[in-house]
Parts: sequence; C-alpha cells; structure tokens
Amino acid sequence: MSNEQSSKQVVGYAAAEYVRDGMRIGLGTGSTVAFFLEALAEKMAKEKISVIGVCTSQQTEDHAKKLGIPVSTLAETPHLDIAVDGADEVDEQFRLIKGGGGALLREKIVAAASESVIIIIGAGKYVSKLGSGFLLPIEVLPFGYQSTKTQVAQKGGCTPYLRTIESGEPFVTDNGNYIFDCKFENGIDDPEATHSILSQIAGVAEVGIFLNLCDLVLEADAEGNLVKHSTDYARNLFA
Ligand code: 5RP
Repeated sequence: MSNEQSSKQVVGYAAAEYVRDGMRIGLGTGSTVAFFLEALAEKMAKEKISVIGVCTSQQTEDHAKKLGIPVSTLAETPHLDIAVDGADEVDEQFRLIKGGGGALLREKIVAAASESVIIIIGAGKYVSKLGSGFLLPIEVLPFGYQSTKTQVAQKGGCTPYLRTIESGEPFVTDNGNYIFDCKFENGIDDPEATHSILSQIAGVAEVGIFLNLCDLVLEADAEGNLVKHSTDYARNLFA
C-alpha cells in the first residue's frame, strides 16, 4: 500500500472508534471513506454492534451493502448522530472544500442532518487558504449550464471548467447534474462571501464550500501519524 493509501487507512480506522452501538451514521464518499466503511464493518462484526448508515452517493451505498452495513435513507432516518466524510481541503477554521468525487450536494445535506461531522483526510489537505491547491467544485443544473458558467465566472471571480469523463462527455452526478471545477488565481480570499455569491446564482444546485459543517478533523500527516483538530463542540461531545 502506498503512503497516501496508508494515511487514508489510519484516519478511516480512527473515525470508526467514534462509532457506538445504535448510531445513525452519515456515510460520506471517496477513497478515504472507503477505509472507514471497512473499519466500520470490522467493528460491527467484532463488537456485535448494530448501526444504520445513510449514504451520500451510489458508490458508497454499493460499497456499504457489499460490506453488510445496513443502509437507510434520509426519508426514513432524517436525523443522524454522526457523519463521517472526506474532504479535498480543510482550513484552520474548519471550513472545507468538497466535491472532488462529485457528491457534494448529498454530502452537504447529510452533514447538515448530523449532530456531529467528522472529516477524515490524508496528508497535504490541511491548508492555510482554501482554493490555493484544489479547484472548487460547484454542482449545476444541466439546463442552461453555459449561461450559468458565465455567471459563475463573472460573479465568483473565478474560471469554471466543466468536469468531463474520458469520452469528453460531461460528468453527471447522482442527481443528474453537472460539475464546474472553479479556479481562483490566488485561492479563495473570503470563503463565506464566495459561498454566498455563488449560491445565489440561478442554476447553481450546490457549492463545494462547507461552512459550519465540521466538528472534528482527523488528519494523517506524511508519516502516517494521526493529528486531531477539534472544535470546542467536538471536545465536549467526544470527551
Ligand atoms: C466527494 C468528496 C470527497 O470526500 C473528497 O473528494 C475526498 O475524496 P478522497 O477521500 O477520495 O480523497 O468530497 O464529493
């Protein structure tokens, strides 16, 4: 396993330690979450606990079912105890960029429905300024996306690129939408303002800036050591 993979494994397994019997868990999306799912399935078998998961993507649902993790929906289980998800960038104020895997819309809904959110990241994702290394994903409706693109560029002060698959066709999310990956020349100066401006553009379904939706960050540094970044809320909750 590469260093990158093993750092993801470290945080995936660390997150599983926060799971308790009977919990309703939001299951994020991505390669780091995949390790959490494995750790969760192992913990369920070993400790004979039962949990219910609400998935943020078809990919996660397929994986969870394969591992024998029971899944539900927000319609049946509207309130969740915790959500565990990855991120593309995290800053010191617990603000996130998400959507590298294209699941940002459902991820935000699930995070908002959760009492606490644990974000798990490998090395290199804890940054001083959002958007300096990673392009900001925005989910947009296919209808009129060309006009939406112009608006995003003008109002957001960025360069949006339509995400495509190998064939050159647009990448389509689980919601049937498209993704713009937006480049900010010098990173995102004011994530709150940028989030607000972009969210108000017609045709934008969701913006990949997550604000006030992260309580605890579990990060693995380059050597694979676990580093915890905890809000006061998480410190009390997980004491
Ligand atoms: C998907 C996401 C993922 O959490 C994010 O892209 C991180 O993925 P990975 O764990 O594979 O690096 O936001 O929409």
